[in-house]
Amino acid sequence: MTLQVVILAAGQGSRMRSSTPKVLHPLAGKPLLQHVIDSARTLNPAAIHVVVGHGGDEVRRVMDDNGLSWVEQTEQLGTGHAVLQALPALGQASTVLVLYGDVPLVSGPVLQALVAAAHDAPALLTASLTDPSGYGRVLRDDNGAFRAVVEHKDASPAELAVTEVNTGILAAPAHLLQRYLPQVGNRNQQREYYLPDVLSLAVAEGLVVHTVSAGNPLEVMGVNDQLQLSRLEREVQRQRAEALMLAGVRLADPARLDVRGSLRCGRDVFIDVNCVFIGDVVLGDGVRVGPNCVVADSQVGAGSEVRAMSHLQKAKVGERCSVGPYARLRSGTELAAEARVGNFVETKKARIGVGSKVNHLSYIGDCEMGDGANIGAGTITCNYDGVNKHITRIGNGAFVGSNATLVAPLEIGPEGFVAAGSTITREVPAAELAVARGKQRNISGWKRPAKATKD
Ligand code: UD1
Ligand code: MG
Repeated sequence: MTLQVVILAAGQGSRMRSSTPKVLHPLAGKPLLQHVIDSARTLNPAAIHVVVGHGGDEVRRVMDDNGLSWVEQTEQLGTGHAVLQALPALGQASTVLVLYGDVPLVSGPVLQALVAAAHDAPALLTASLTDPSGYGRVLRDDNGAFRAVVEHKDASPAELAVTEVNTGILAAPAHLLQRYLPQVGNRNQQREYYLPDVLSLAVAEGLVVHTVSAGNPLEVMGVNDQLQLSRLEREVQRQRAEALMLAGVRLADPARLDVRGSLRCGRDVFIDVNCVFIGDVVLGDGVRVGPNCVVADSQVGAGSEVRAMSHLQKAKVGERCSVGPYARLRSGTELAAEARVGNFVETKKARIGVGSKVNHLSYIGDCEMGDGANIGAGTITCNYDGVNKHITRIGNGAFVGSNATLVAPLEIGPEGFVAAGSTITREVPAAELAVARGKQRNISGWKRPAKATKD
């Protein structure tokens, strides 16, 4: 049986108090809606239909390259009304799984069980909560069979005492949704068309509605405000830290690690406190990352150390390198083995050769550096003339003295030597010394200015 997924994401999310549509708020670096889509994808659905309304254009723009089918709900008249908008796209033959765009942590296996339970009648995902307030309650008959969902606002005091709640997530054969949804009315406290009413309609016709219980309530927790979002974020981060530690990574403090993407680590990796990993990051065997580092879409080779306060973005660090403290490696930076980039050094589109050193206070941009070069403190590659970028080539074994200004396009030959404080505008041939600075004059007998005396 083919599967059609419908994700409800048209609500306003007003309690987020944000101009960003709720389902686009990030959890672990990824929009809430993307988490839901990724879980849905594990079931190989024939299509994923996303019902949008509030902020729909923005949601589409951000998520559009996902091969989704979009359904517009211009007025938010309830969850039943939202699924009704998708009905024409669902046909008769498949099973339909309804998910919420703001319930991000629901897992593939739970959904799989729910879909399997919806073979010839609807099935509902429920959860038992210590504080069920706000949720729809699950009502059962004396034999424990599912009877109906009653919304909190419509419930009697006795019904409010029920702790089993509707998570909102359900599955049903498409033809049953086609049959029952148009019959759902809005005669309730909120004047809304309630999706769970299809379940009582099914029960009224003698069908048995199965329920699947989400063992872990976190899986079905929705995000309504920033506080709930932050709790889910901590939970995801805790799970990721635990998985890393079980895979052998040593974390100075699992509560002070944020992984906003995928972090793959070799053996014997150590990560100190307050590091943030964004996008795809790979750390090789024995890598050490010091405290307060941000590493985004980068690779760090085996045996390398990224020291405190460093920031890497789209950088490739080879093996046994040393980076930082306080280094900034920007996109297109490539460090060959045993290269060293030290404090207050910024690199961009720069290849630093084997064993080369840029240890202090430099800007190295659009640069191809050979092996064994030594770049002195305060060296700047002037790569930008205000219009175009130009390349600086520095040969093997070259030595650039401190505070040199290298005006690109420029080539410094192998073993070339640049005197400290030089502004270099022309090629430095191999093994030659370039000095380009004012000559020192010492003036003997010079007197300091004296303070003017008042008359
Ligand atoms: C709903 C359920 C409730 C359940 C709770 C779980 C109904 C009537 N109630 O209540 O039983 O316990 O979820 O969290 O279904 N949405 C639309 N269009 C609409 C209305 C809602 O797309 O017209 C979307 C929202 O964006 C959201 C989801 O549906 O993703 C749920 O809507 P919400 O208003 O939060 O429903 P609840 O009142 O929480
Ligand atoms: Mg809700």
